[in-house]
Amino acid sequence: MQFTVLIPVLLSALSLTSALPDGQASTWNCTNFELNCSPGGCAYRFNISAPQSENAPGFSTYCEGLTPNATACANDTITAAVSPLTNPKWNVKVQHEWHVIEEEYNSEATYWQAGSANVTETTTAFLITPNVFYGVA
Ligand SMILES: *[C@@H]1O[C@H](CO)[C@@H](O)[C@H](O)[C@H]1NC(C)=O
Ligand SMILES: *[C@@H]1O[C@H](CO)[C@@H](O)[C@H](O)[C@H]1NC(C)=O
Ligand SMILES: *[C@@H]1O[C@H](CO)[C@@H](O)[C@H](O)[C@H]1NC(C)=O
Ligand SMILES: *[C@@H]1O[C@H](CO)[C@@H](O)[C@H](O)[C@H]1NC(C)=O
Ligand SMILES: *[C@@H]1O[C@H](CO)[C@@H](O)[C@H](O)[C@H]1NC(C)=O
Repeated sequence: MQFTVLIPVLLSALSLTSALPDGQASTWNCTNFELNCSPGGCAYRFNISAPQSENAPGFSTYCEGLTPNATACANDTITAAVSPLTNPKWNVKVQHEWHVIEEEYNSEATYWQAGSANVTETTTAFLITPNVFYGVA
């Protein structure tokens, strides 16, 4: 394992901003959202997909788990966590992690994008605009 350095995200932020004028990545589309609470806890499930963008690979998977812990989705490069806010709102957080071989530096870089949305138990579809972007090499 190589010495780990936090690369200034500026490097990647440069291409991020040149890809889209407002510096935002593509929007993640969440559908078939369900939240079922029982005395044992609340179980959620939803499908999520994102088109490939210049900055991030696309994905399409489904997530299920129990509130409020973070749980890997079917494609474990995606992680989700659903936690209660003021009733009846819930916060859905999603993180996408991926790896890129940086040939120039002969190393592998890891990138994360994360975002969240607030929903209620009756929400079935919503969008998440990732607003956090990190990279480590
Ligand atoms: C989200 O995905 C659903 C199902 O594939 C589709 O009907 C809907 O148009 C998509 N919404 C957006 C904003 O892309
Ligand atoms: C949601 O994910 C499930 C499990 O992968 C799949 O069977 C179903 O077709 C998906 N639904 C949509 C609308 O993509
Ligand atoms: C959530 O994580 C905590 C700490 O790891 C653990 O004690 C707890 O049992 C987990 N809860 C569920 C519902 O998985
Ligand atoms: C999981 O998602 C990554 C993008 O992060 C994608 O490159 C990979 O092909 C997906 N894996 C599967 C099994 O769909
Ligand atoms: C969700 O609700 C919380 C508390 O009301 C708020 O702080 C947060 O900004 C909201 N998040 C989104 C993505 O709307």
